[in-house]
Amino acid sequence: MQAVSGKVENVAQPNSFEFTAENIEKSKEIIARYPYGRQQSAVMPLLTLAQKQHENWLPKAAMDCVAAMLGMPPMRVYEVASFYSMYNLRPVGKYFVQICTTTPCWLRGSDGIVSACKSNTGIDFGQTTKDGIFTLQEVECLGACVNAPMVQINDDFYEDLTPENVVTILDALKAGKQPKTGPQSARFSSEPLEVK
Ligand code: FES
Repeated sequence: MQAVSGKVENVAQPNSFEFTAENIEKSKEIIARYPYGRQQSAVMPLLTLAQKQHENWLPKAAMDCVAAMLGMPPMRVYEVASFYSMYNLRPVGKYFVQICTTTPCWLRGSDGIVSACKSNTGIDFGQTTKDGIFTLQEVECLGACVNAPMVQINDDFYEDLTPENVVTILDALKAGKQPKTGPQSARFSSEPLEVK
């Protein structure tokens, strides 16, 4: 698997990062969920908040900011951020397309979804299109196996995919439209397909 969170040595890093006033309030609320002395448990939600604030990727300055807020050695925050595929340590496209290829999705045709996405965007896993619109990433199970195959694009799941309808979704995003999220089949959620 090629991870967008891979090599970061050539990434231009901003000199500083600060949470917005609104996100400082959210951070306080997140940290308060944990017992006194266990505030470091908030590292993952704070990294997620920082990433959302910073165009869906985490510069070193953002990780350092989270480390300082939680009184953690920066290295421990880097370890968390570099371990999980949902954290991007380099810039990604406007639409971050994560394609699940784990066994249930694979059995339901994820190979065709991967081919369609690569061919439509002209990029491989771990790459971003020249216009900055799409980044492709191969990921493990995203917990929507019953609606396999599926992809996650930014915060949205698109399920019951075919090579044809995933291209329709990518084309809609490219055109600035918001495609229907969730199952692309006739079913409403994850009920058996044959139920009317
Ligand atoms: S295997 Fe793809 S969502 Fe679970």
